[in-house]
Amino acid sequence: MELYFPVLYGTVREGRRSLVLARYVVQRLSKRPGVRAKLFDPAELPFGNLVQREWELPTPDPRVSAFVGEMASADGFVVVTPEYNYGIPGTLKNLLDSLFDEWNRKPFGVVTAGGIVGGVRAADQLRQVIAGVRAVMIPAHVPVPFVGKAFDDSGAPRNPEELDPRLDRMFDELEWYARALSAARQATPSP
Ligand SMILES: Cc1cc2nc3c(=O)[nH]c(=O)nc-3n(C[C@H](O)[C@H](O)[C@H](O)COP(=O)(O)O)c2cc1C
Repeated sequence: MELYFPVLYGTVREGRRSLVLARYVVQRLSKRPGVRAKLFDPAELPFGNLVQREWELPTPDPRVSAFVGEMASADGFVVVTPEYNYGIPGTLKNLLDSLFDEWNRKPFGVVTAGGIVGGVRAADQLRQVIAGVRAVMIPAHVPVPFVGKAFDDSGAPRNPEELDPRLDRMFDELEWYARALSAARQATPSP
């Protein structure tokens, strides 16, 4: 079975330096046999500050409907986000809060960018938020320190022998959880 993993990027900040990391994650994840990945950039989505969740919108925006359809068909997700002041960007929180059922009982892999510790506090916060949407953040997490210096101008990592094995280990785990949870969702109704 083909696995589909949307990659949810966390910020709309002008000059965002972690976008290169999100693009690289999509590129590397897409190279895996039997895996499809696609980047979802909140700058191209109509989710700002949460006013209504998607099912509360009086007139469904076609961009929202398309996004909901993509998330519903996903086997799991990868979040790529910078850490802002020890937490996740508000944009990402609003995006996650805008849907609910589509996240349920699915695995999330997390890649964070930040200073010397690579955004580990944003990952800790995400673990709580992901539990709130009845989903599972997998144990493997990839923190990327000083993301502005971690890639060259072509978007390639300056130190692939360090980054790639960490990403691959997380992807291995994500696939395992995606298969396990997909089988469980089919076998047993969600409580
Ligand atoms: C508002 C703001 C707050 C930040 N807070 C943190 C932080 O708490 N911890 C950290 O490691 N890096 C922090 N950073 C650094 C970002 O993680 C860093 O800028 C990195 O480039 C990724 O963010 P970007 O994609 O917006 O450029 C912060 C950056 C901004 C813009």
